[in-house]
Amino acid sequence: MGITVAPITENFVAEIGDVDLSGQLAPADLTAVKDAFWKYAVLIFPGQQLSQDQHLQFASQFGPLESGTGIGRGNKPPRLRPELADVSNVDQQGALLERDDRLKKYQLGNRLWHTDASFRPVPALCSLLYAHTVAPIGGHTEFADQRAAYDTLPEEMKERLAGRIAEHSIFTSRAQVGMTEFEEEELKDFPPVPQMVVRTIPENGRKSLYVPSHAGRIFDMPEAEGLALIDQLMEHATQRQFVFTHRWRENDLVMWDNRCTLHRGTGYDDTRWKRIMQRATVLDVANSCEQEGVRVPA
Ligand SMILES: [Fe+2]
Repeated sequence: MGITVAPITENFVAEIGDVDLSGQLAPADLTAVKDAFWKYAVLIFPGQQLSQDQHLQFASQFGPLESGTGIGRGNKPPRLRPELADVSNVDQQGALLERDDRLKKYQLGNRLWHTDASFRPVPALCSLLYAHTVAPIGGHTEFADQRAAYDTLPEEMKERLAGRIAEHSIFTSRAQVGMTEFEEEELKDFPPVPQMVVRTIPENGRKSLYVPSHAGRIFDMPEAEGLALIDQLMEHATQRQFVFTHRWRENDLVMWDNRCTLHRGTGYDDTRWKRIMQRATVLDVANSCEQEGVRVPA
């Protein structure tokens, strides 16, 4: 028997059953997973039992893996292998992080609508987040379909955005949650990068908005006008009709296409509940401007 695909809506988010991600998938099953992924952009695999290695092994079938930024961690030793981002509120001993822990502050940025690693020259193609321990209340993840958001823009706006480039920086989004103090090393490691405002998804030819909270100024546009445009697009792109809320269960693996979705974590009482998740991130093939064949102005 092959995998089962159970769509949640016609074109966005599907649950996948009859598949065990801990072992090698049959080629036909992997193809079916990929086909579903390009169509829906968010896939939910319930009831998976995955070690760190098995999680990474499944992720690596979509492309090369990215390492975490290490930002916010300071000198603390990592809990996980370097290819896994630690999206947890516990320390290495499994105890809840202190209220003022820097990592917690950094993670607050995950509550903003964003897409993973668009602040890197080559951003993330997809992320695969696996839940070990979930909060009983809150701590959901919301996803917004940016292909649907693009499709519903007025024609004049589509024309205005064609070929536009925005500057993305991790520090732009962190400033929005009041985190402005970074080590010189951290600032040096993550200079701002250009990304397309609208990108094309090669597997299906659909166009998608690409304006997460990492986006700052727009090239060849007065700064204030660019920022106002980004605000306007963000408001459009995250309207309720484009949004799906995932309520986590333990052992869910959820993967999403960072090229055409925004996501954010919802709040929860992180001084009371443990929320222990690990994320594998797969790199895209190139910078989004390069993929569109658009030259970046100096
Ligand atoms: Fe994220």
